[in-house]
Amino acid sequence: MLFSEEENTIQIAPDAYLLKGFLLGHSQGLLKDLNLVLKANPLRHMKTPSGYHMSVAMTNCGDWGWVTDEQGYRYSQRDPVTNLPWLSMPAIFRQLATSAANSVGFDGFKPDACLVNRYAIGAKLSLHQDKDEADYSHPIVSFSLGLPALFDFGGITRDAAKQAIHLEHGDVVVWGGQSRLNYYGIRRIKAGTHPLLGPYRFNLTFRRTQN
Ligand code: SIN
Repeated sequence: MLFSEEENTIQIAPDAYLLKGFLLGHSQGLLKDLNLVLKANPLRHMKTPSGYHMSVAMTNCGDWGWVTDEQGYRYSQRDPVTNLPWLSMPAIFRQLATSAANSVGFDGFKPDACLVNRYAIGAKLSLHQDKDEADYSHPIVSFSLGLPALFDFGGITRDAAKQAIHLEHGDVVVWGGQSRLNYYGIRRIKAGTHPLLGPYRFNLTFRRTQN
């Protein structure tokens, strides 16, 4: 890992960065708008194409939302639960995601989708690549809130060596360019209580899904 002068921007791979504590100072604003998103588009455990319910509860905001069911993985402009468009992406989400991307050289990132993941204790996200977007030239920006997690960041093949990165409340990971299609996942969340989010980890992942 390479540290920047400020020691809070850590390069974890080519074109991939951990921004330690980037969101600290914005928790109240983020959580206030997160509550609005959860009211409009409730969390749900989606089904994978092979019929399993995911342990992570998910919802979305923005123009496009990521969904999965028996028909496969895809982006949809409507929430299949409410049959309405997803709530617009709150300005504080968009601004912080764009500014995190800019801070490591991905200028002009304009996310059109924000996937909200809620991890209860024991929930995990298996190793996978993000390949449902139209154009891989845009980075992925991922916010961590609440309980800590171990983020496995691998390489372009499933069996490539992985780094286990400790993510805490306020951290952001940005990856794109040479690392855009790297495999990654979240290990099972360990028991704990966060002062703001109790027994949960929330993750907001920002993507540009359309050209
Ligand atoms: C995701 O990319 O959907 C989740 C990543 C995370 O929880 O940190």
